[in-house]
Amino acid sequence: MEQQLVLALSLFLVSVCTARAWPAPDFCHGKQCPEYKLVKKAEGFEERLYDASEWITTKVEGTESSDLMDANSRLKAYCKRLNDAGMSRSLTTSFTHTVDYWLSWFVPPGTTTLPPESNSTVILESRPESTVYVRVFGGTPSIKKGEANASELCKSLEKDCTGTTYSGAGYDSFFSLSHHNEIWIYASDINKSETP
Ligand SMILES: *[C@@H]1O[C@H](CO)[C@@H](O)[C@H](O)[C@H]1NC(C)=O
Ligand SMILES: *[C@@H]1O[C@H](CO)[C@@H](O)[C@H](O)[C@H]1NC(C)=O
Ligand SMILES: *[C@@H]1O[C@H](CO)[C@@H](O)[C@H](O)[C@H]1NC(C)=O
Repeated sequence: MEQQLVLALSLFLVSVCTARAWPAPDFCHGKQCPEYKLVKKAEGFEERLYDASEWITTKVEGTESSDLMDANSRLKAYCKRLNDAGMSRSLTTSFTHTVDYWLSWFVPPGTTTLPPESNSTVILESRPESTVYVRVFGGTPSIKKGEANASELCKSLEKDCTGTTYSGAGYDSFFSLSHHNEIWIYASDINKSETP
C-alpha cells in the first residue's frame, strides 16, 4: 500500500497548465510557482507570505493509488481543455489533507481559465494572500512522510495542530535525483483550530 502510494504520488508531482516567468527560487527549476515573500526563517520552518493565487482542485475519493491517479487525470483533462497547445510538464502540486484529501495544481497568473464542465469534479479555487508556515523535506514524498513532517512542523511552531489542515507541495518529478518537498500549514488554519 505504502509502495503504491509512493508510485501514485510520483505521477501527480509533475503537472501543468501554462507558463510565464517569475524569478522563482531554485527549487521551482525556473518554472512558474506561487509567489511569496520570505517573512522569517526560523529553526525548523519558514514563514512566508504568499500572494493570492489560483488553483484547480479536485477531491481524492479514497486512499488507493488509483484514486490519486483518477484525481490527477481529472486535473490533467481540465488543463488540456484550457490550453491544448500549451501543455508542458512542470508545476507546483499541492496535496491537502483536511478530513478528506484534495489534489491541486497551481494555475500561473495570467492564465485564462474556463469554468469546469458541469459534469466535472474539478473546481477553480482562489486562495487569498496568506501567511503560510513551511517545512522543507527531501526524499521521495509519501503521505506517511508528509504526516510525520507536518507534526514536526507543528512542534517547531510550538502549536497544537490536532486536526489542523496541512498541505504537501511538490516541485519535482518522481525520477528526479533530488526532491524538494514542503509541508504547508496556513496560519489562519492554526488560529481556527485554537478557537473552537
Ligand atoms: C463530461 O461530458 C463531456 C461531454 O459530454 C465528456 O466529453 C467528458 O468526458 C465528461 N467528463 C467527465 C469528467 O465525465
Ligand atoms: C520527513 O521527511 C523525511 C524525508 O522524506 C523523512 O526521512 C522523515 O522521516 C520525515 N519525518 C520527520 C519527522 O522529519
Ligand atoms: C493568529 O494568532 C496570532 C496570535 O493570536 C496572531 O498574532 C496572528 O496574526 C494570527 N494569524 C492570522 C493569520 O490570523
